[in-house]
Order: sequence, then C-alpha cells, then structure tokens
Amino acid sequence: MYFHGKVTAACFSPTGGTRAYVEAVAGAMSSAPEAWDLTRPETRRQPRSFGAEEVLVLGVPVYYGRVPEVGDLLAGLTGTRTPAVLLAVYGNRAIDDALLELADLCDARGFRVAAAGEFIAPHTFSEHIGAGRPSGADLEAARALGRGAADKLARPDWSSPALPGKRPYRSFQRAPFYPEGDDRCVGCGACVRTCPVEAIAPQTPVRTDPERCLRCLACVRACPTGSRAVRSEAFLATRSRLEGALKEPRQPALYF
Ligand SMILES: Cc1cc2nc3c(=O)[nH]c(=O)nc-3n(C[C@H](O)[C@H](O)[C@H](O)COP(=O)(O)O)c2cc1C
Ligand code: SF4
Ligand code: SF4
Repeated sequence: MYFHGKVTAACFSPTGGTRAYVEAVAGAMSSAPEAWDLTRPETRRQPRSFGAEEVLVLGVPVYYGRVPEVGDLLAGLTGTRTPAVLLAVYGNRAIDDALLELADLCDARGFRVAAAGEFIAPHTFSEHIGAGRPSGADLEAARALGRGAADKLARPDWSSPALPGKRPYRSFQRAPFYPEGDDRCVGCGACVRTCPVEAIAPQTPVRTDPERCLRCLACVRACPTGSRAVRSEAFLATRSRLEGALKEPRQPALYF
C-alpha cells in the first residue's frame, strides 16, 4: 500500500550508496517521489516546507559513527510535525549514534520519526569493504521499510520507534588525510562542481581546504585524469586496517 500523501526522497550521498537505498524506500511508498539532493550546497540553501500530510524519507551516510559534519545539512527543511523515515547507510562497520543524531536533528526541524533503517554500502575508503552492496536482499529490506512505514502511517495513533545510539554522541577526530590534485590537473572543474561542501576553490583545484573537507572522496571519483587522490601513508594504513577488520558482512536493521 502506498502512502496517501506526497513523498520526498532526500539524501546526502557524495558517492551514491545512500541514494540507492533512499530511492528504494521512497519508491515503495509512492509511485512518484520527489528527489531532494542535500549533497548539493545550493539545494541545502533552498527553503523547503513540509505539511503534516506529507512524508520525508531522509538518508545520510555514517561518518565516524555520526551524521556527516555538514553544518547546514537540514537548515533548509521545515516540517509541520511531518512524519519522517530515516536511513543511516554505513560501510559495514557500525552506525553507532548516527540514527539517533539524525532523529534529533529532524525533531529540531519539525519532523516526527515514524520508522528508520540501517543499511550497508561499499566503504568510501575501500572497494573491498561492502562490495556488491546493496544486494537484492538489501533492496528488499529497504522496500520493506517503505511499505511498513506506509502501513504504520495509515494508523492514527502511531508513535516513534526506539532507535539505537546514545547521548552524548560518539566523539571523533577527522581522518588525518584528505585528497589533493597533482600536475595531471587539466583544470576541468569537475572536482569543484562535485564537492558537497565547497572545499575546493575554482581557482586552485589541486588544493583542498582541510577544515571543510569531509574526506568523502567524491572529488577523487569525479576527476577524469587521476589528478585528485589521497597520497598518504595514513590513508593506506587505515584502509588495510579496515579491510582486515570488516570482512564479515553486516545485515540491515529496521525500526518501527
Ligand atoms: C569520513 C568517513 C567516515 C566513515 N565512518 C564510517 C563509520 O563510522 N562506520 C561505517 O560503517 N562506515 C563509515 N564510513 C563509510 C560510509 O558510511 C559508507 O561508505 C557510505 O556508504 C558512504 O555513503 P555514500 O556512498 O552515500 O556517500 C565512513 C566514510 C567516510 C568518508
Ligand atoms: S574535497 Fe573533501 S569534501 Fe570535497 S569532494 Fe573531495 S573529499 Fe569530499
Ligand atoms: S577534476 Fe581533476 S583534472 Fe579536473 S580540475 Fe579537479 S583535479 Fe583538475
């Protein structure tokens, strides 16, 4: 059964793993969800109000067990006690406090969490971790979240689910590495246009502002010449430690 009102599928997804899951959830709730791409700074700056009869499906990747450090992530969104279905998408380690933090952020913007899920995607730092995710079973779990949320919202007396995580949220330090360009840069600007937090100045695309940079590696994937890359021993060490520790595939979890 589809949800009776409008469904908006919003995500922050620098490398596309989160987007695939958000689309599956929203597609199970509506035949025509509206996409709202919070990865783009210009979209985050656009005000968007939601009525009580709509639903927001919102997904973020897990960074350091938390919601990515994007100051204006939800700044443009305002709910009217609007139901929300939340997703935390992670690289096969753990979500820690990310769903709880996302729920708190949504609460502060006028949304009410109706359901949530955690899902696995390839890890940003290694193609070998979470390879092949989402699987068919992963996408079926995402659709089950969408269908279950639509069923729940058809009942007038629904309440928000208990979510994993604790307050105060996990503390973290940003990874000591970040990507930069080398002399193969042809000045095409693809990295500048791709960066979700404007950490690359158009005049100097080989440089990176390390204070803004999320280490999402979207610019590395976008660079057509291989100029942008993380060239650091710390990155290689982190990658091989994660590859050693995260071999066992984790499974999705749904919260209603
Ligand atoms: C800076 C950073 C920190 C991350 N921290 C975690 C983490 O704590 N747990 C985890 O399982 N995956 C972690 N990941 C992996 C991402 O959650 C995962 O690759 C996610 O699917 C990326 O989402 P996207 O493809 O939508 O951009 C991290 C990735 C980055 C870039
Ligand atoms: S500069 Fe940093 S934040 Fe911007 S795309 Fe590259 S890794 Fe991501
Ligand atoms: S995407 Fe690569 S080649 Fe293009 S401007 Fe950025 S660093 Fe240079």
